[in-house]
Amino acid sequence: MNMPEGYGTRLSRTLTMSPDPAIYTSQETWQADRRQVFAASWQYVGDARSLVRTGDHLAASFAGYRVLVVRQSDGSLKGFHNICRHRAAPIIEADGYARSAVLTCPYHRWAYGLDGGLRTTPEFGEVAGFRCEDHGLLPVHVQDWRGHVFVHLGEDPEPLEDALTDLPGLIGERPLERCDLYDSWYVDFDANWKVYLENYVEGYHVPSVHPAFDAELETGTFVTRAHTNTVTMRATAKAGGLYEGLWTWTWPAFTLVTFPGGYDVSRICPLSPEKTRVHFDIFVDPDAGLSEEQKAATSEGVKDLVSEDMAISEAVHANLASGVFPGGPLSPRHEEGVALLHDMLRKAGVA
Ligand code: FES
Ligand SMILES: [Fe+2]
Repeated sequence: MNMPEGYGTRLSRTLTMSPDPAIYTSQETWQADRRQVFAASWQYVGDARSLVRTGDHLAASFAGYRVLVVRQSDGSLKGFHNICRHRAAPIIEADGYARSAVLTCPYHRWAYGLDGGLRTTPEFGEVAGFRCEDHGLLPVHVQDWRGHVFVHLGEDPEPLEDALTDLPGLIGERPLERCDLYDSWYVDFDANWKVYLENYVEGYHVPSVHPAFDAELETGTFVTRAHTNTVTMRATAKAGGLYEGLWTWTWPAFTLVTFPGGYDVSRICPLSPEKTRVHFDIFVDPDAGLSEEQKAATSEGVKDLVSEDMAISEAVHANLASGVFPGGPLSPRHEEGVALLHDMLRKAGVA
């Protein structure tokens, strides 16, 4: 992608319109989103620091895919599709963290080792040519970036650190690794995942949609920048508030926000063309001396903020789905992040 003069300059030279609204609603784009975006890039699925002992595992879902990541006895992580090789039941029924010595399918009790190898098939019967070693769990790639587990469903992916591109440098020396998972939750809402992200990567709406949040920022300091595949939003946060002043989104569905004494991450998981689930993880630095009240206030502040974003995303999605809207112009001052997102979608062949 060639962008020598910067997105803001480009948007001010050429009137740039948002894409065909069909990309937010059509089944055809939904399948392209799944295969060309979510199965073709690294996805954050959970906290590596919560997978400590042999057999600790996490199960996660995104865009119709279900995966399982397991801590091995040698300390490494292995990842699999969460699909039994018998008749496709999920091996782990509920997403989240747990520990097992053996991965047993709840349907007919086929049992797999932590390495994904099929070990036993109770009551299956004798079949010529059947061998357990031909029916192990289907593997996925797993990598850990500073305590965050990512999976990639494709073949031969580029290294995670390369895929994250701008983000490691933007986050710099902040002590992410020593932070502990403090709170996790998810929220479902009725809008396409791209509608939520378009809103996420611009601060244009902050004064009107988030008046309480806006009051925590010095007026006129909110600046959005498009990097290679990350958008940063920076503002001068007032002292004593919740925020430090850095919000990031990295293609396609990972956000990281810093606050004094910690940070939060989210992963944006489409459930269908018109439904999205966003998972949030808040991490707190145990050496930062935050009180229980401060930690709780951070969780509550994030929940309030995103509920405002989800409400406007639902209303926008409904209008996009009406078939009336012809596309609209992007602001050179505020919407270069939206333009980058649209470029990434075009590059993936979904816009
Ligand atoms: S589907 Fe898993 S044992 Fe039958
Ligand atoms: Fe917002």
